[in-house]
Amino acid sequence: MSTEFKVKRPSPIPVDQELEIFNRYADAKETIKGLEAGIPVLVNGFYSNGMTLIREVQTHLRKTMPNKTFQEQRAYRAAYRKLSNLILIEVDHHKLKVKKAPSIGWLAKLYPENKHFLLPFPQVQGMNSSWQWYQNGLMIPVLRNKIHPYYGTYFPTRFDHLILFDNWLKRYEGAKKSAIDVGVGSGVLSFQLVKHGFQKVFATDTNPNAIIGLKESMGETKMSRKIELAYASLFGPFEKQTELIVFNPPWIPQDGELDSNDEAIYYKETLFPDFFEAAKKRLLPDGKLVIIFSNLSQITEVSKTHPIQEEIEKGGRFHLEKCLTRAVKAASEKTKRDQNWRSSEEVELWILKHQ
Ligand SMILES: C[S@@+](CC[C@H](N)C(=O)[O-])C[C@H]1O[C@@H](n2cnc3c(N)ncnc32)[C@H](O)[C@@H]1O
Repeated sequence: MSTEFKVKRPSPIPVDQELEIFNRYADAKETIKGLEAGIPVLVNGFYSNGMTLIREVQTHLRKTMPNKTFQEQRAYRAAYRKLSNLILIEVDHHKLKVKKAPSIGWLAKLYPENKHFLLPFPQVQGMNSSWQWYQNGLMIPVLRNKIHPYYGTYFPTRFDHLILFDNWLKRYEGAKKSAIDVGVGSGVLSFQLVKHGFQKVFATDTNPNAIIGLKESMGETKMSRKIELAYASLFGPFEKQTELIVFNPPWIPQDGELDSNDEAIYYKETLFPDFFEAAKKRLLPDGKLVIIFSNLSQITEVSKTHPIQEEIEKGGRFHLEKCLTRAVKAASEKTKRDQNWRSSEEVELWILKHQ
């Protein structure tokens, strides 16, 4: 992968066509019929008109589609994504061109050159909440400082796996010269490694925003000298062997569905075999491979196999030192009812060594 890379952002849509308008006088049901026929609509007047239409689309889909099982939820989300992304909003000079709109700093940061264009309303909603997270920061129980997740970068919303990793690091007695964090995201695992005394962490990610965001937030601080970043797949340019390799991979196999192209959540068939093959070369003889995973795919029956178990059973490269698990905190009563599968969810910390 080249060192030249561009930030990932929703594509700006040129303002070059006459569009249907949705404002407080428009008929939502008629508008939704248009959306179902693939006709885009422009939100006009107040920002809240966009929210109203989004709610109407949700109500419409709830009435027409089941949304209980894991698979049904996926199909529902795909339908929602298709309709809602046809709802557009105008951006002019880094501001939303409607009344009572939130001010979203990403519009200036991500589109410095683009003055006048359209964006899908749900993308703007995403940017708005991302801007809040970025500005306010997020407290992580195992870290001293808040993290400030950059737009489009994965960040943890539940912390069980981080606690599991932290407890393991507390007892870790091996050398702490260097580690590799594959798929650094918002940097939480790298920060944990530094907190526990690792002198140098090499970190990669295939998401450019993860790398851009961490470069920006670490600036010239001491942390920036301890964590070396590369926009790259797997181990990228980092060829030197380390005593620890850490990977919190995506947890769900990609299955060609519309919403399965998020590389933080869904993995391609080749990801794990490629990872283990490369890790074999990058791990010091006494080193440890630490992989965070979850039984999510198995309990939802999205997948019958477990990529780490498979690697161990196949043999030849790594053997299991131990696997620690921790039950994910029960969801609230309401979500538990809708998502039965959540109740047996566990996060896993796999510790592997050279065979
Ligand atoms: C589940 S997130 C974990 C992020 C972070 N390490 C954490 O624990 O919060 C997985 C991350 O791996 C990245 N990723 C996916 N495939 C990758 C690959 N082949 N090489 C490097 N990073 C990858 C994703 O972009 C995402 O940031």
